[in-house]
Amino acid sequence: MAKYKIAWMPGDGIGRDVMDAAKIVLDKFKFDAEYVPADIGWEFWRKEGDPLPERTIKILKNTDCALFGAITSKPKEEAEAELAPHLKGKGLVYASPIVRLRQELNLRTNLRPCKAYPGNPLNYKEGIDIVVFRENTEDLYSGVEFFPLPDEVRDVIKKHNPKMKKFDKHPSNEVAVSLRINTKTACRNIIIDAFEYAKKNGRKSVTVVEKPNVIRETSGLMVRTAREIAKNYPGIALYETNIDAMCMWLLKNPLDYSALVTSNLFGDIISDLCAQLVGGLGFASSGNIGDNYAVFEPTHGSAPKYAGMYKVNPMAMLLTVVLMMDWLGEKEKATRLENAIAAVIKEGKVRTYDMGGSSSTLDIANAVAGKL
Ligand code: NAI
Ligand code: MG
Repeated sequence: MAKYKIAWMPGDGIGRDVMDAAKIVLDKFKFDAEYVPADIGWEFWRKEGDPLPERTIKILKNTDCALFGAITSKPKEEAEAELAPHLKGKGLVYASPIVRLRQELNLRTNLRPCKAYPGNPLNYKEGIDIVVFRENTEDLYSGVEFFPLPDEVRDVIKKHNPKMKKFDKHPSNEVAVSLRINTKTACRNIIIDAFEYAKKNGRKSVTVVEKPNVIRETSGLMVRTAREIAKNYPGIALYETNIDAMCMWLLKNPLDYSALVTSNLFGDIISDLCAQLVGGLGFASSGNIGDNYAVFEPTHGSAPKYAGMYKVNPMAMLLTVVLMMDWLGEKEKATRLENAIAAVIKEGKVRTYDMGGSSSTLDIANAVAGKL
């Protein structure tokens, strides 16, 4: 029996292209794993009305972790329109399978390293090395939303908070409400993860990125919790910045920041910004990590216009494999793979279109495998 069982979820579009690249590298390692294919994505929404079928959840529960390519998501009306005829009009509502996975498996931490590898012509500045910790299950992505706003909900909110009164003049079918729900437990967990990471990796600071001066309760909870936890980590500084200012500071002084920790929506935004500082979506890896399970995926989506063309950059996916190996405890292999990736970037002999080259997705994977 293989040492690891890994759920294999290419998903949609270029998800398949980059997973093929990952396979080349894993095979070069003779990685001791069984890869269990699992269905996810648009095809299953259209054919079955569920982009994350129950059988996939079952597979995930019987594997050590999952490697995932990308999925296509579309807005509600478009999703409904693409359903197979026998599924239309049954009240099926599309929900992003990756958001569901994060919530159902409680993959509470989204880890997104953003490192400027020397020689990458897309680096915004040399020396950037930022790791983003994004809370992955709550906040504005909790899915507690209303439209139109039911009268009872409106009344109850008004009873508890007079500020709701100013919306009285708008009819219910013209008011949309999405609740930002943050718990102390989730704030604690993500902040502890960031500090523990900083401690293990010799990082000198953790920056909590929120907006407590305006969003007093939810952002406030996060910042207050960060202050409490920081006390247990002498030697690691806690910086506090507002999300808006942070976007500016990251462009101005990206070398000042090391580990960022934030809530779900702000983390989604800031990690795309950080990804662009180090070469864009072609370099952005991520792990969705829970207590006993993790799903690893490049940050990019399915880029439908490039699907099946083997044109896109697989570095994001290969760096995602580094994260997976590291999480599985295969530190030596993880380091070897990261070094191979760094060497290929530095040499610059093979580059995909985003780096100004014309090499294919698989050329890059083979070059990396060649360095192992
Ligand atoms: P996208 O990430 O798929 O692509 C945007 C653009 O970025 C591409 O057209 C391409 O120019 C570039 N790009 C992306 N990955 C690249 C790579 N590896 N190498 C080089 N260039 C790359 O985002 P978009 O176009 O907004 O969304 C397309 C679909 O993907 C949508 O259906 C969206 O919902 C979905 N999506 C899925 C995500 C996931 O699976 N976690 C994340 C983001 C979007
Ligand atoms: Mg995103």
